[in-house]
Amino acid sequence: MREKTMASSETTPLLAVHVAPQRYRYTHHTIRRGCTFLLASLLAIATILFLIPSAILPRDHGSIWSYLPWAHPLPHDSWPQGNGLPYDQLQQILLNTPSAAKAREWSSYYTAGPHLAGKNLSQALWTLEKWKEFGVEDTTLASYDIYLNYPLGHRLALLKKSDDKTEVTFEATLEEDQLDEDPTSSLPDRVPVFHGYSASGNATAQFVYANFGTYKDYEDLVNANITLEGKIAIVKYGRIFRGLKVKRAQELGMVGVLIYDDPQEDGEITEENGYETYPNGPARNPSAIQRGSTQFLSILPGDPTTPGYASKPGVERQDPHNSIPSIPSLPISYKEVLPFLKALNGHGPKATDFNQYWQGGGLTYKGVEYNIGPSPEDVVINLNNEQEYVTTPLWNVIGVIKGTIPDEVIVLGNHRDAWIAGGAGDPNSGSAALNEVIRSFGEALKLGWKPLRTIVFASWDGEEYGLLGSTEWVEENLPWLSKANVAYLNVDVAAAGTQFTPRAAPLLNQVIYEVAGRVQSPNQTVHGQTVADVWNGNIATMGSGSDFTAFQDFAGIASLDFGFGRGAKDPVYHYHSNYDSFAWMEKFGDADWSYHIACTKMWALAAARLVDSPVIAFSAADYASGLYTYLRRAEPSALPETHFDFAPLDTAILEFKSSAEAFDAYADSLTEQLHEDVPWYHWWKKVRLYFQIRVANDKYKGLERAFLYEPGLDGRDWFKHVVFAPGIWTGYSGATYPGLVESLEAGDIANAEKWSKIIQERVNAATSLLA
Ligand SMILES: *[C@@H]1O[C@H](CO)[C@@H](O)[C@H](O)[C@H]1NC(C)=O
Ligand SMILES: *[C@@H]1O[C@H](CO)[C@@H](O)[C@H](O)[C@H]1NC(C)=O
Ligand SMILES: *[C@@H]1O[C@H](CO)[C@@H](O)[C@H](O)[C@H]1NC(C)=O
Ligand SMILES: *[C@@H]1O[C@H](CO)[C@@H](O)[C@H](O)[C@H]1NC(C)=O
Ligand SMILES: [Zn+2]
Repeated sequence: MREKTMASSETTPLLAVHVAPQRYRYTHHTIRRGCTFLLASLLAIATILFLIPSAILPRDHGSIWSYLPWAHPLPHDSWPQGNGLPYDQLQQILLNTPSAAKAREWSSYYTAGPHLAGKNLSQALWTLEKWKEFGVEDTTLASYDIYLNYPLGHRLALLKKSDDKTEVTFEATLEEDQLDEDPTSSLPDRVPVFHGYSASGNATAQFVYANFGTYKDYEDLVNANITLEGKIAIVKYGRIFRGLKVKRAQELGMVGVLIYDDPQEDGEITEENGYETYPNGPARNPSAIQRGSTQFLSILPGDPTTPGYASKPGVERQDPHNSIPSIPSLPISYKEVLPFLKALNGHGPKATDFNQYWQGGGLTYKGVEYNIGPSPEDVVINLNNEQEYVTTPLWNVIGVIKGTIPDEVIVLGNHRDAWIAGGAGDPNSGSAALNEVIRSFGEALKLGWKPLRTIVFASWDGEEYGLLGSTEWVEENLPWLSKANVAYLNVDVAAAGTQFTPRAAPLLNQVIYEVAGRVQSPNQTVHGQTVADVWNGNIATMGSGSDFTAFQDFAGIASLDFGFGRGAKDPVYHYHSNYDSFAWMEKFGDADWSYHIACTKMWALAAARLVDSPVIAFSAADYASGLYTYLRRAEPSALPETHFDFAPLDTAILEFKSSAEAFDAYADSLTEQLHEDVPWYHWWKKVRLYFQIRVANDKYKGLERAFLYEPGLDGRDWFKHVVFAPGIWTGYSGATYPGLVESLEAGDIANAEKWSKIIQERVNAATSLLA
C-alpha cells in the first residue's frame, strides 16, 4: 500500500487526478497481522532514528526527520531554500540568466507569422521543443475542440439612397496601411480585420453615435429619446470590454455595431498635438484597427458551447448565444470612421450636450462635430460581416517540473495566440518572458536544484477569443487544481510601455511588493532604483480580460497578473492592430528589451518565492484588509433611504481579520522555528514542525477556495467567487462583492440581503479555516 502511494505521488500530478483509487479486500486475520507488523516496524524505525547520531548526517540537511521517507527535507541552515541549491543562489540564477538578446530572439520568432487561435500548430510544437531544450522534459500539448469563428469576408459602406438609385458615398477598405518600415504589416497571409465571436449578418440601416457604448451611454440616448431600434451604433473602444458594447446594442434592438479607436484615448501623444504618427513618430497610425473578441466576457469565458466543462472531442454542446452576439459588428480605423461620423454632423443632439462621460472626442480637428444622429433616413450604412463558425482544435503547451511536495503546485501562464501576425506586445512579450523564465529555472535544474513545490508552465492558445485554452484546461483539471494549486501567476503583456501595472488577489500582494523591490527598473534616471521605486504602489483588483479568470473566479485559486503597460508619456501602443509588431517594439515599445527582462525577473522571483519557501508566502491579513476596503466601496451602492445594514458583514470581516492576523503570526513563527537549532535527541520537534507547516500550508492553500459559492452569481453561474468577478457591464475591470453590489445597484434589497448572508457565510468559513 505504501509503495503504491509513493508511486502514484511520483507520477505527474496532472495525471494523478485521473487515476482511480485501487480497492483491496482485507480479512480480520490479515488486519491483525498487519497491525502487529506495523507496530513493530514503527518501533524499529523510531529506535534507529533515535540511535543515529546527528553528527554522521550531512550538515546541509541538518536533521534526522528530513530522512523520513514521506517527508521532504525542509531546510535547516539557510532559509528559505529548495533542495540542492540555496535559495539565494537560486535567486541569483533567476536574476542573471534572462538575456535581452534571447528575449528579442523569441519575440522575433513568435511575431514572424500569423498565430490566430487554432491556426498555428507549429508555434505550439516549437514552444514545446524549446521548453524541453531548456530542461523541462515533461512538456506536452493539451488540446481542446473549440467552437469559434474565422473571417470570410466583409463590406462597410456609406450609402445615399434616392428613389431610383443608391449611391455609394464611401467604401471603407477595412485595411491597415502597409508600411515599408514594418514588414508584418504587408504579409500576404495577414489576417483580415474582424471580431472574435461576431455574428454573420448584412445590415443596412441608419446609424447613431453612442460614445463608448457603455450601459450608461446607451441609457443616456434612450433618455434623450433617440431611437436606437433598427439602427447601427458607432462606438469608441475603451472604458469597458468591447463585447459588452455589442451586447447592450443587441438588447436595445440595434442591428449592427462599428467600433473604432478615438485618439481621445491616446492622451497627449496625438497627431493633433503635433506628434508624428507611426512609423515616423509615437502617435497612433490613423489606419490602425483594433481587432478583438465580442464574446460576453462577464457572462461566460471559455468555449461558449461547453460552459463549466472541457471541450473535449465528442462532448455535448450547448447553444452559445447566451454568451456571444447575434448581431454583426466590425472594427474600423479612426481614419476610415471619419466619413461616417461627419455624415452625422448637424443631425440630432451633440455629445457635448450630454454629461461628463460624453466629452472630449478626439476627432474635432478632422471636422467631426460628434452629433448623435440618427443619420437622415436616406443616409445609411451597409455593414456586411461574413464569418465561418467551426469546431476546431487548439493547443496549450504544458510543462511540469515536479517538486518534492506532490500536492502543492504553482502555475505560470501566458497566452501565445494573437489576432495578428505580430503581437509583439500582446501576448508575445509575455511569451518571450516566459521562455526566459523557463530557461532560467532550467539553469537551476542543471545545478541540481529540485523545487519544493511543483511548477507548471502554460502557453495558452485561444486567449484572445475568450480565454479559451486556459478556461478549458482549468475546467478539465478542476479536481486536481482544487486540491493542489496554490497560486496562478499570469503575464499577458510583459512590455508595451514603462508603467508597472499589477493586479492580484490580496493573498499575493506581499509577493509583488517583494519582487518589485528586488528587480532593477530599466529606468535608471536615479541610479540603482528598483521597479518598486518608480511604481505608484497600486495593485488593482482582479477583473477579467486574461487567463487568470478561470483560476481566480471559477476555481478559487489566488492569482496575479503583471507587466509594463503604457504610461501617459509613452508612445501609443497599437493594441490588437497590425502595428503591435516586432518593428514597433524595437523602435518604440522596448527598444533595448529591458522591460521584457525586468518582467521576466519579477515573474521568476515571484515563482521561486512561492515554490521554495517552506511556509507558503501568503498574507491572510492583506485579504482581510481587502475585504474591509471593498465593503467601504460597496456602501455608496445602497441608497440611504433603504437603510441597508452592512453591520453583519462588517462583523464577519472583523472576525476574519483577527484570525487572519493571528494565523499569519503563527505562520511566521513556524518559519522562525526552522532556523532554530534543535539538539538531535529532540528530533521529534522537527517532525512535529513539519506536520505543523503541512497543516498551515493546507489552510493557506484552501483560503481562496473558501470564498467560492457553488451556485454561482446571479445570471452568470459560471462565476463562483463571492468577492471577485469582472464587472457585469465592464468586463475588464474588477467588481468586488458582485452579487451584493449588483443587487444594491438594481435596488433589489431582498436580493442584496440574500447576498450579504452568502458572503457572511463564506467569510465565516474562511475564519473557521484559519482558526
Ligand atoms: C506560424 O508561426 C510561424 C512563426 O511565427 C510563422 O513563421 C508561420 O508562418 C506561422 N504559420 C502559419 C500557418 O500561419
Ligand atoms: C448586403 O445588403 C446590401 C444592401 O441591401 C446588398 O446590396 C448586398 O448585395 C448584400 N450583400 C450580400 C453578400 O448579401
Ligand atoms: C422624451 O419624450 C418624453 C415623452 O414624449 C418627453 O416627456 C421628454 O421630455 C423627452 N425628453 C427629451 C430629452 O426630449
Ligand atoms: C524614471 O525615473 C524618474 C526618477 O525616479 C521618474 O521621475 C520618472 O517619472 C521615471 N520615468 C518613467 C517613464 O517611469
Ligand atoms: Zn493578451
